[in-house]
Amino acid sequence: MENSYKKIFTANKEWVAAKNKENPNFFAHLAKEQNPEYLYIGCADSRVHANEIMGLQPGEVFVHRNIANMVVNNDLNVLSVINYAVEYLNVKYIIICGHYNCGGIKAAMQPKDMGILNPWLRNIRDVYRLHEKELDTIPDTNDRYNRLVEINVYEQCLNVIKTAEVQKSYLEKGYPRVAGWVYDINAGILNDLDIDFEKELTRIRKIYDLTKGG
Ligand code: CO
Repeated sequence: MENSYKKIFTANKEWVAAKNKENPNFFAHLAKEQNPEYLYIGCADSRVHANEIMGLQPGEVFVHRNIANMVVNNDLNVLSVINYAVEYLNVKYIIICGHYNCGGIKAAMQPKDMGILNPWLRNIRDVYRLHEKELDTIPDTNDRYNRLVEINVYEQCLNVIKTAEVQKSYLEKGYPRVAGWVYDINAGILNDLDIDFEKELTRIRKIYDLTKGG
């Protein structure tokens, strides 16, 4: 264990050397500012690494990760990340990225007491209840589980669209747009759920319009 811990610092030195060799200004340039075009909200799962699956370098994507890529309306952590990304970094896209075989989604589908995880999983169980009709038509448990992964991404996109800063920024400046993706962990492929952002924004604003005042 000690060795695998120490290995990290050796690997870091090698990475710095490689980056400097590639581009001697790499760190000096990055240290000045960040100007990412994307905010990525994904699962904390160790197998789903934002930069790597998107082919992006440090500085190119602002990242927030939690269990099952949730946007919970009283979670100051994710809300602060969205606020900062929209109002200060002026990101052009906010991406919710879920993934098949997500342990958080699977746990939410188990009807049992998960202790401190209960309130978090409750948000996913609420998504299930909202889409119960569709999910209950899927006989295969695994297919149902994967469909819940997709539906959860969709609901979290709506939660992003419900925020005042996203609504106001989009109407004033034309960005950010919100997108939902599912990463296929078996093949390494990113699938775009092709959520119709404009349509969802209009629909959401019927009830959650926060563009006035503030
Ligand atoms: Co996950």
